[in-house]
Amino acid sequence: MATVGRTETTDIAVHWKEEEYIQPPTTFVRQANLVDPAIVDRFREENFPDCFQEYAEMLAWDRTWDTVLDTSHPPFWKWFVGGRLNASYNCVDRHLARNKNKAALIFVPEAETEPTCTLTYQELFVRVNEVAAVLRDFCGLKSGDRVTIHMPMIPELPITMLACARLGVVHSVVFGGFSGEAAGLRAADSDSRVMIYADAYYRNGKLIDHKASADIAVRTAANEGLKVEKVLVWRRRDGQDLSNTPMVPGRDYYMEELLKGFRRVRVDPVSVDAEHPLFLMYTSGSTGKPKGCQHGTGGYLAYVTGTSKYYQDIHPEDVYWCMADIGWITGHSYIVYGPLSLGATTVLYEGVPTYPDAGRPWRIAEQLDVNIFHTSPTAIRMLRKAGPDEPAKYNYHFKHMTTVGEPIEPETWRWYHEVVGKREAAIVDTWWQTETGGFLITTKPAIDPMKAGSAGPAALGIFPVIFDEDGREIPAGAGRAGNLGIRNPWPSIMQTIWKDDERFVRQYYAKFCRDPKSTDWRDWPYFAADGAMLAADNYYRILGRVDDVINVAGHRLGTKEIESACLTVPQVAEAAVVPVVDEIKGRMPAIYASLKPGVTDGRQVSEQIVAAVETMIGKIARPKGVHIVPDLPKTRSGKIMRRILAAISNRMETGDVTTLANPEIVEQIRKQVQGEGPVELQEGPEDLKRFGEQE
Ligand code: PRX
Repeated sequence: MATVGRTETTDIAVHWKEEEYIQPPTTFVRQANLVDPAIVDRFREENFPDCFQEYAEMLAWDRTWDTVLDTSHPPFWKWFVGGRLNASYNCVDRHLARNKNKAALIFVPEAETEPTCTLTYQELFVRVNEVAAVLRDFCGLKSGDRVTIHMPMIPELPITMLACARLGVVHSVVFGGFSGEAAGLRAADSDSRVMIYADAYYRNGKLIDHKASADIAVRTAANEGLKVEKVLVWRRRDGQDLSNTPMVPGRDYYMEELLKGFRRVRVDPVSVDAEHPLFLMYTSGSTGKPKGCQHGTGGYLAYVTGTSKYYQDIHPEDVYWCMADIGWITGHSYIVYGPLSLGATTVLYEGVPTYPDAGRPWRIAEQLDVNIFHTSPTAIRMLRKAGPDEPAKYNYHFKHMTTVGEPIEPETWRWYHEVVGKREAAIVDTWWQTETGGFLITTKPAIDPMKAGSAGPAALGIFPVIFDEDGREIPAGAGRAGNLGIRNPWPSIMQTIWKDDERFVRQYYAKFCRDPKSTDWRDWPYFAADGAMLAADNYYRILGRVDDVINVAGHRLGTKEIESACLTVPQVAEAAVVPVVDEIKGRMPAIYASLKPGVTDGRQVSEQIVAAVETMIGKIARPKGVHIVPDLPKTRSGKIMRRILAAISNRMETGDVTTLANPEIVEQIRKQVQGEGPVELQEGPEDLKRFGEQE
């Protein structure tokens, strides 16, 4: 029986049923980019790091690199040192000579009555140039400056990102569904004097006034000491005001108006060092403050281009649709940079997958003849529940499908394969993270068989390892789970946490580093903060986070961030946030709060807590339950035992609680949450057994 305190990761033996291999369809294999098994040899460890030149060679460089990998200052790896390039040139200009009339982006508005909008590479080129001119000449932005872009899924989002990249300006895109507060905090952290917004967008049939968030963001940034000088506002519909929030004179400008002064202006792409930062992407970790993952230009672009070609199997004639949001890393790497760098046609969908009904994605696929489809387990579960028979009604054919962001249950995977994919598609389950920039674990779709629920073997040139708590390697087929690490650097590894090198080293390398003085990369394995298990066939099965991060619908939320939002409600004395299983979203946060003396109206406080979480973070963090309790279980040193609360919320064994300072509270909370009578306990998923381990 587990006791209070740390549960050793290695105590967890995993008894999964091994799933059958499923071979990729021969129709897929016949046309795939990656069919020659010799590639495995080319990317063997002896050929590291030079093997990654194969990806770099897929780009157009202004100057070729001198050194593939510089390890002189670990763990700040430098890739393709001496090389110079521009990401916007690579994603746009270089395709003009042969493909200027080809669709680069196809925008699908949420309302089916609104027509789709196609931008050719030539049109994208013109728009990116004009926006770059606004940023440079009206805003005075130059290479290295940061800009925070808080926008929904409209074509102006990738256009703005590429305009930044053209100038060497570092973009920081904040997911449109995050609140103004969240955007303001991120803008302040990155010192963005310019923020870019859209006035409004459609979501689930409703028009959302997004401009309202801009005012909150600017105010929040000001409280953090940053003056946002300019807010540029894209209009969702040219010439129409969809937002009721007034423009602030001298601060807010409609892009549409500004662009009138920059028609036909061309901006030369600024050639930057391979190591020049391309973007920041804030993500949650185990502290309250999101960290700005900094990604470079050369290594990042090379890796996402190579992996888009080999694992997404993108060919020039394909129509590729990744149904993620560009506001997350998946959208950056595999809607914008990877596919556009390859000159593909990439589809952008504004709305929710089930609007107006669960047949919508399949109608879009049929209409645009999409043949590569990429989404998350949460979307798959949602579509399966809402319309299990819908895919069969539509005449589309996917040759390739991806699942990403969370573990997928074999049963859900099978529906994806049989019903959505009509058994015609190769599926890749790609494991990676905001920090990793691109796929690190995945099958090679034409070479490796698929196995439901397993992400697959390591990607080419990637050497993962599973460590127990003492840093010993757990071998393949041991039947035990451990901490997933990556032994080697790779080109799209984040460069650092923005302005916080020390936290970067502590968070990702301190745990497994063998010798802090060493400049040999072999001494610096990367700590992924995920639990995983390696089967005898070298396929990895990912269990989920081992830190205080909850993966809600494939999106990372820090429990500490949610807890600090709860504590902004004045009546709350203490709060603890734990993950609870949700059949659609995978996990959701549940909140436990105790109140200050004298506060009696628990219901009202619960509502205030939910409102605070939505305001500080966004609706995505909306809890599945708020429990107002007399006290929280604590150790004698006063630490809140979140693991016990997670066990209660998920009807799992709470373990021995007798060593707590207040053991009696556990039964009291249990009755409050689960009811008076006895309940049937469940074994619970692996990640929940491990939750709170790092406490
Ligand atoms: O726990 C892993 C889970 O998502 C986390 C990374 O989240 P984020 O940085 O938001 O990036 C999501 C998109 C790459 C990981 O630490 N995760 C990601 N992919 C998978 C996964 N869990 C299981 N299977 C996957 N394929």
